[in-house]
Amino acid sequence: MKVLILNGSPRMKGNTRAALQAVKEGIETGLAPEELEFYDVSAHKLSPCLACDGCKKNGGVCVRPDESAELVKKIYEADVLIFGTPVYWWGMSAQLKMAIDKLYSMDSQFKALKAQGVSKKVGLVTVGAAATDDPEYKLIEDQMVCICGHLGWKLSFSYGISAWEPGEIAGQEATLKELREVWETLQ
Ligand SMILES: Cc1cc2nc3c(=O)[nH]c(=O)nc-3n(C[C@H](O)[C@H](O)[C@H](O)COP(=O)(O)O)c2cc1C
Repeated sequence: MKVLILNGSPRMKGNTRAALQAVKEGIETGLAPEELEFYDVSAHKLSPCLACDGCKKNGGVCVRPDESAELVKKIYEADVLIFGTPVYWWGMSAQLKMAIDKLYSMDSQFKALKAQGVSKKVGLVTVGAAATDDPEYKLIEDQMVCICGHLGWKLSFSYGISAWEPGEIAGQEATLKELREVWETLQ
């Protein structure tokens, strides 16, 4: 089993990262350390997709000098993917979106997995300042549902959390407890 947790927030002491750490705490009790990776997207050099199609002539590897090929390979090999993002302007962060855009480089390989019936399980954690009845959480979830549908993945949980200042989520113990238990929905 390979589980990849992707933090789409640039804040290293932010709410999304803290929420994902709670998810990780729940997961790591049942897995060997090498089966679980926590990946801070903003700690890596990624460049936006230019739609140059260079990757299509380059074995599914982006021709730009960044770390996207390693990341896309990790996503390709993972059985479980957990995406975390702050809400930025009613959408996911540019950092996470940029990482997802780079899946285009291995589009045919991902489609081949789908054709073989290989389905990854996906979790989504979204943190915004607005109350959880704001449409933004559903907008991001709907986008993830479409991405999963395209790739043959299954969205197993989606969690919208309201928190504004960095570290604010630390006071939401009930939410963190639920996040530690969310792993059970992915088994
Ligand atoms: C560029 C930017 C755009 C934002 N847009 C929204 C928004 O549309 N809706 C919202 O509820 N919060 C918005 N926020 C607030 C963040 O979602 C909120 O502070 C969240 O806790 C940040 O998560 P983090 O600490 O993990 O980075 C925005 C923050 C920034 C920096």
